[in-house]
Amino acid sequence: MAILIKNGTILNPATSTNEVLDLLIEGDTISKMAPSITAADATVIDATGCYVAPGLIDMHVHFRDPGQTAKEDIETGSRAAAHGGYTTVCAMPNTNPVVDCPEVVKYVHDKAKQVGLCNVLQVGAMTHGMKGEELSDLEGMIEAGIPAMSEDGKSVMNTNLFREALRVAAAHHIPVLSHCEDINLVDGGVMNAGPKAEALGIRGISNAVENIIEARDIMVAEETGATLHLCHCSTKESVELIRDGKTKGIKVSGEVCPHHFTLCEDDIPSAADSNYKMNPPLRTAEDREALRRGLADGILEVISTDHAPHTAEEKSRDFTKAPFGIVGVETAAALTYTELVLGGYLTPMQMFAKMSYNPARILDIDRGDISVGKVADVVIFDPRETYEIHASDFHGKSRNMPYEGRPVQGTVVTTILAGKITYKR
Ligand code: DOR
Ligand code: ZN
Ligand code: ZN
Repeated sequence: MAILIKNGTILNPATSTNEVLDLLIEGDTISKMAPSITAADATVIDATGCYVAPGLIDMHVHFRDPGQTAKEDIETGSRAAAHGGYTTVCAMPNTNPVVDCPEVVKYVHDKAKQVGLCNVLQVGAMTHGMKGEELSDLEGMIEAGIPAMSEDGKSVMNTNLFREALRVAAAHHIPVLSHCEDINLVDGGVMNAGPKAEALGIRGISNAVENIIEARDIMVAEETGATLHLCHCSTKESVELIRDGKTKGIKVSGEVCPHHFTLCEDDIPSAADSNYKMNPPLRTAEDREALRRGLADGILEVISTDHAPHTAEEKSRDFTKAPFGIVGVETAAALTYTELVLGGYLTPMQMFAKMSYNPARILDIDRGDISVGKVADVVIFDPRETYEIHASDFHGKSRNMPYEGRPVQGTVVTTILAGKITYKR
């Protein structure tokens, strides 16, 4: 079956293509790109006024499968991702059981293939059971196809063990996706430290909680030669740490989540509303501005979601008792377009670079590029449409997010995975 996408503006960061062209997909492959293509039996999609870009790649989701499937599972997570324009996601290993051996990696990959709505790449935990005591079966999991290793949800606090893991990562050329949080320094904090937390009578998480581990991780990356990718950067200092690391030639990159460039601690209405609770927390307006500028100047190369579904019951609890996290794959493209492109920080091309091409480069996967001959993972995005975000429109299982009723501009109209339509509005 062929698909002919007509009159869209092709935005392909890999080739810097920014041009109105037709694009033909035959089988699972992009077979032609030219000003005016005709194809007799193709399904025709009119993309006039829309961007046609490489399918989005999310380096950071929690699909909760196996073990916490009341929150999400591979099928609902894949549906949500396709709705959000994603064709590939990296699933974090803090499931139950933890993904620390090849068997669980295989379970996720098999189930995702069966569902067929998204490439779900399972990330392997760095330590057994994520207990931080001994390394997991990293080689076995690499053999089973993990694209990266991560202890997301926490840091490997034992620096020597962390270094051991990075040596394995360096030897096998896979990146380390690092959640940076000094667990001792957190000291019971649940939101950003400062006057707001004090006014609400809640314990705070200082920027240093994140910065200290980021600095440590960059040093260990330098020593081991591993490729280090810093998850959910939230502080202004994180941008400078990455900048310094890059200047020294260290292989370090960083991601920002839409909540950290869209919101700040001033937006938290009360300690009762835990839809504003995530880890790392919403920081100050000054931190948010530094992240936006870091994205604009290229220091921060990736936008990922940290899609973290939780049940309504759990999130009905207040800030001190609810789990950290919000869902994100179904709102990321619209928030990025609205806040960063219309906000003047990114061009549309840069948006798709940070949401597809750069993640593919860091993960070293042959995706994020819609050149002729490549696999046809494509998103069609209409930048004109304005609407409000409503959780009732979501395809995922969970609804925990702070954007209900928020006006945005830009919507995913079609997602294509290896030549098959996985979402169509
Ligand atoms: O907000 C978060 N939620 N941050 C994390 O690091 C973990 C995640 C989760 O698993 O819910
Ligand atoms: Zn994390
Ligand atoms: Zn996470």
